[in-house]
Amino acid sequence: MISFILNNEIIKTDLPTGYVLLDYIRKNQRLTGTKEGCREGDCGACTVLIGELVDDEVVYKTVNSCLFPLGDVHLKHVVTIEGLNLETINYLQEQFVYQGGTQCGFCTPGFIVSSMGYLISCKNYNLNDALIYIGGNICRCTGYSGIRRALTNTINFLNEKLKGFNSGKNNSIKNLVELNFLPDYFITIPQKLRELKEHQIEEKVNYQKFVSGGTDLYVQRWEELVDKNVYLLSTKNDLKGIYVNNDEIFIGGANTISDVEESQVIKQYLPELSESLKYFGSKQIRNRATVAGNIVNASPIADLVNMLLVLDAKLYLESEQNKREIYLREFFKGYKLLDKSDDEIIKAISFKIPKENYLFNFEKISRRTYLDIASVNSSFFGYIENNFVEEIHISAGGVAPIPLYLKTTSSFLKNKIITKDLIAEAIEIGMNEISPISDARGSAEYKELLLRQLILAHFEKFFPELVSIDLVLKEV
Ligand SMILES: Cc1cc2nc3c(=O)[nH]c(=O)nc-3n(C[C@H](O)[C@H](O)[C@H](O)COP(=O)(O)OP(=O)(O)OC[C@H]3O[C@@H](n4cnc5c(N)ncnc54)[C@H](O)[C@@H]3O)c2cc1C
Ligand code: FES
Ligand code: FES
Repeated sequence: MISFILNNEIIKTDLPTGYVLLDYIRKNQRLTGTKEGCREGDCGACTVLIGELVDDEVVYKTVNSCLFPLGDVHLKHVVTIEGLNLETINYLQEQFVYQGGTQCGFCTPGFIVSSMGYLISCKNYNLNDALIYIGGNICRCTGYSGIRRALTNTINFLNEKLKGFNSGKNNSIKNLVELNFLPDYFITIPQKLRELKEHQIEEKVNYQKFVSGGTDLYVQRWEELVDKNVYLLSTKNDLKGIYVNNDEIFIGGANTISDVEESQVIKQYLPELSESLKYFGSKQIRNRATVAGNIVNASPIADLVNMLLVLDAKLYLESEQNKREIYLREFFKGYKLLDKSDDEIIKAISFKIPKENYLFNFEKISRRTYLDIASVNSSFFGYIENNFVEEIHISAGGVAPIPLYLKTTSSFLKNKIITKDLIAEAIEIGMNEISPISDARGSAEYKELLLRQLILAHFEKFFPELVSIDLVLKEV
């Protein structure tokens, strides 16, 4: 039995855990304000808020309901556009109308829910952060200037009004209720969720498939999941946590990309990783996509995998009978072929804390800056002291059947003095390690050229004086 709160109503349902939340909202509940556009996580029209009790406070996140397994709403608060309605439209909605932020209106509920997710989650309002929250919402008619103006005015309005308010922990919802941005039932939700939790009954269920965030599975194979009880790894606390142990950083397999991006541990020891993850999908996708899902999906262009390859990450695999460790560089055996049995789950990953003078860089080429997968991506990690290369590790995505670690190139660079010629030679070696194919993201020649330029971009970042224009323009 799945028990949750939908807007202001307690719901109990026996539907399979793999049923799609969007279908439940629109078809079973007839709450048709939430729209269905792409059903692939690309448009944001289906965005809803999911609130969960964390340390006695309800934390809300925006998600794409089209990729969300219904079972994952258990003991949570789901807010659709209808659940944000007051007697009259609120200031944010008003601004969308007055500033020309809506025309046909199809995308508008998604934009409003994403924007409200921002207003609920953040304490210091500013436009740049707000834009990150709507990065996963697409509008085909309005043009984004009106939406931007609506957000700017809302932020200015709230910053002005909140001057006298207490903006400490737990207060943003209270403030937004008092300022008529949110209906007042929001205040009662923490207590209702606590009561649901107290009265829940543990049940034995026969699960048929592992799902974490569902952002790959519900795009690729949702028809196979909707009538099944899927096992929701994203709800397992023993697969979560980001912490330091001895000289290593550990990340639970079920941690989301947002968890990694926002982690204080990552910000302290490897802030560039956190920054690079801003180019992973959209806010809604990052709030769901997990570390292990990115690895097991085994896409050659997986962004986090690309970064973890240069960090020489280790995987901790577990099944009922067995526990073992394996390096990520050894894990991919061929296109979507892994050194993993069906019953093994990735419990965690780890990598060594970088020493103080490390160099890290991530480059990604995609058609849009945000919410787009890479045509080619590449990461760089290493130590170079007084032009002496202690070690450099380079990865390359989208140029082979697997996420590729450039092993020969990386060992060639070890213990050398860095010069313009060394960089040129390393690139030639790198080009011999790859085997790109022509597909929708570009021809094989184009991808080869992209990787060449991305490797140059790494060196240009740290040694601009060594990357001359003739190296950049050199024909391949
Ligand atoms: C709109 C959109 C944009 C995207 N943008 C990007 C992007 O910019 N960069 C990028 O790299 N990816 C992107 N992706 C792909 C996807 O979000 C990632 O690959 C994500 O990390 C998958 O994680 P998940 O938890 O959603 O996986 P799921 O879909 O839940 O699962 C994927 C696979 O992993 C298995 N699995 C999950 N967890 C475990 C575990 N702990 N142990 C063993 N097996 C497990 C599942 O059984 C399944 O086979 C995007 C996807 C969408 C829909
Ligand atoms: S319907 Fe497009 S993101 Fe869900
Ligand atoms: S107003 Fe028509 S899609 Fe945005």
